[in-house]
Amino acid sequence: MRSRYHEVYESWENDPEAFWAEAARDIDWVKPWDKVFDAEAGVYGRWFPGAECNTCFNAVDRHVAGGRAGQLALIHDSPITGTQKKFTYAELLAEVTALAAVLQDQGVEKGERVIIYMPMVPEAVFAMLACARIGAVHSVVFGGFAARELATRLDDATPKLIISASCGIEPGRVVAYKPLLDGAIELARHKPSACIVLQREQLTCDLIPGRDVDYAETVKAAKAAGREVPCVPVAATDPLYVLYTSGTTGQPKGVVRDNGGHMVALKWSMENEYGVKPGEVFWAASDVGWVVGHSYIVYAPLLHGCTTILFEGKPVGTPDAGTFWRVISEHGVVALFTAPTAFRAIKGQDPKGTFVPKYDLSKFRTLFLAGERADPETIKWAERNLNVPVIDHWWQTETGGPISQNPVGLGQLPVKYGSPGVPMPGYDVQILDDAGHPVERGTLGNVVVKLPLPPGCLPTLWNADERFREAYLIEFPGYYKTADAGYIDDENYLFIMARTDDIINVAGHRLSTGGMEEVLAEHPDVAECAVIGIADAMKGQVPCGFVVLNAGVSRDAAEIEKEVVALVRDRIGPVAAFRIVVAIKRLPKTRSGKILRATMQKIADREEWKMPATIDDPAILDEIKAVLNARGIGV
Ligand code: COA
Ligand code: AMP
Repeated sequence: MRSRYHEVYESWENDPEAFWAEAARDIDWVKPWDKVFDAEAGVYGRWFPGAECNTCFNAVDRHVAGGRAGQLALIHDSPITGTQKKFTYAELLAEVTALAAVLQDQGVEKGERVIIYMPMVPEAVFAMLACARIGAVHSVVFGGFAARELATRLDDATPKLIISASCGIEPGRVVAYKPLLDGAIELARHKPSACIVLQREQLTCDLIPGRDVDYAETVKAAKAAGREVPCVPVAATDPLYVLYTSGTTGQPKGVVRDNGGHMVALKWSMENEYGVKPGEVFWAASDVGWVVGHSYIVYAPLLHGCTTILFEGKPVGTPDAGTFWRVISEHGVVALFTAPTAFRAIKGQDPKGTFVPKYDLSKFRTLFLAGERADPETIKWAERNLNVPVIDHWWQTETGGPISQNPVGLGQLPVKYGSPGVPMPGYDVQILDDAGHPVERGTLGNVVVKLPLPPGCLPTLWNADERFREAYLIEFPGYYKTADAGYIDDENYLFIMARTDDIINVAGHRLSTGGMEEVLAEHPDVAECAVIGIADAMKGQVPCGFVVLNAGVSRDAAEIEKEVVALVRDRIGPVAAFRIVVAIKRLPKTRSGKILRATMQKIADREEWKMPATIDDPAILDEIKAVLNARGIGV
């Protein structure tokens, strides 16, 4: 099929407002908008001001009313617990309504925040939708974060209550959530009025009388009472959720998502970008704690009337490297979306793809990869073994959906290995040099998006318009700074090469090295420190810390290194995958005192590097190389 991409992109370029107004016809609105876009509102403008809507209504109720009541909406497939649960749209509505009633009984009102700190269980999805139903603003916190990270989010989002569970399950260990939850509340200045706790049979927990509420009991009572909770109309510009993501410091950024623009963008993407039809089974193998989980486990597939899969397991080890193919065949998945790291993990355990032919993958059409750069070797391995198109696409928590892609729904364009495709409608992507001038095609530079951002992107940061301006809008006036570096080729394909800030990408998880440095600096024996991301065959990158110990510290450096590793796990969480730290005599710096992190990273990754002209003492780099080599790094 000839791709319609170019004509569709042009139609957006010619009249963006008409384009999005047309897309918005696929959403049910309580009240239409006054303007499609108001450039004067908000920080850079707002989409669909004046309109009223409800996201839960569009994701659930309207499908029940429109003939999909008996169709599966959600499949919870949990190889880690050996269980499966399936919910039709009617059953999903019943679960969401009952929980919404419980939230209302707890006094949660429109606009109030609810933190959701849960493992990959169906109740996490019910919780998100129940908040949406009553106009509350959810903020999901990934289960792999430690108590202190949760506490930071509590203080920033100031939620009325928290919905959590007794435990999560990781390979080989049960993660007790309750101590983390209680610890976070203890640490935080802001105290929620209640916690709704889901007891899981793998590890139950004690509930604190007067504060904690049993999820199952209260939901059961709401169902028995036949409670009805109508969808509360909210402004299209009202926040649906706040999702915290790593910034350049330990203070995460609260990315705000609105209701109206978000629905329009996600609904449009399902058919046109992902090539999926209502009624089909879509699977995003991510976690609801990440943006991919928000957009493509929960909202987009449900808005589109698909069946979505919530997978509680890992690509390998639960029980083997064939688990993805088992899920695809068993549930008739047409499209899988995951991070390249998952495929590198599978490829590492089953290089010849021997598990693939054991399963019927006849319904499977497309594999989508995002979250980090998809290395060509991994793409080719997937193409060879699965025999479907493998589509790399690029996005960020901030955008909530793809900035660039190879839009299979509009007709696939030729695949270029190493490129996450071409800009999607809504995105005028450009490459600027550090002074803000456009560069020649093929030249590496700062990847920016011309304002305004399209519907679905963040309108601002939670309670922090100024931080939003500073972080994204000020450096290149008129543009949104993606903080990615890359280039555009002659056919408008994008190549995303690296971050321009301190963010690293570990197994598709976005982490701030600056945030880790703040933790390292807390250790009483550490005088100075630096954290860089170094290449890792499976995870893409892993953090590597350097510490300079205080003068006079006579303790064994190996002991201190162990303590530093434990400190990061305790403060940030296991998700940081922080295992490597080396004690060094001094850090390499410029004469003005800037730590030469980029040069250290090149030494660790055995990339070509030049001696920086401004270096204070060149001998330090030899010291760093020797220390890393002694650990088997950069050899
Ligand atoms: N709750 C508690 N702990 C968690 C967690 C959660 N929800 N998720 C991860 N962790 C822990 C892991 O158990 C591990 O702990 P450990 O140090 O005790 O082993 C640590 O955090 C690091 O986790 P992870 O980076 O996921 O590494 P892994 O070795 O367990 O698995 C992959 C590696 C590649 C298999 C896994 O990261 C993966 O499937 N990634 C692809 C999909 C994805 O999640 N993409 C993100 C956005 S698209
Ligand atoms: P997150 O906000 O967690 O989705 O992380 C966003 C960052 O991940 C981007 O800014 C990129 O640095 C990186 N990223 C995501 N998808 C891709 C991709 N397809 N190719 C290259 N980098 C990517």
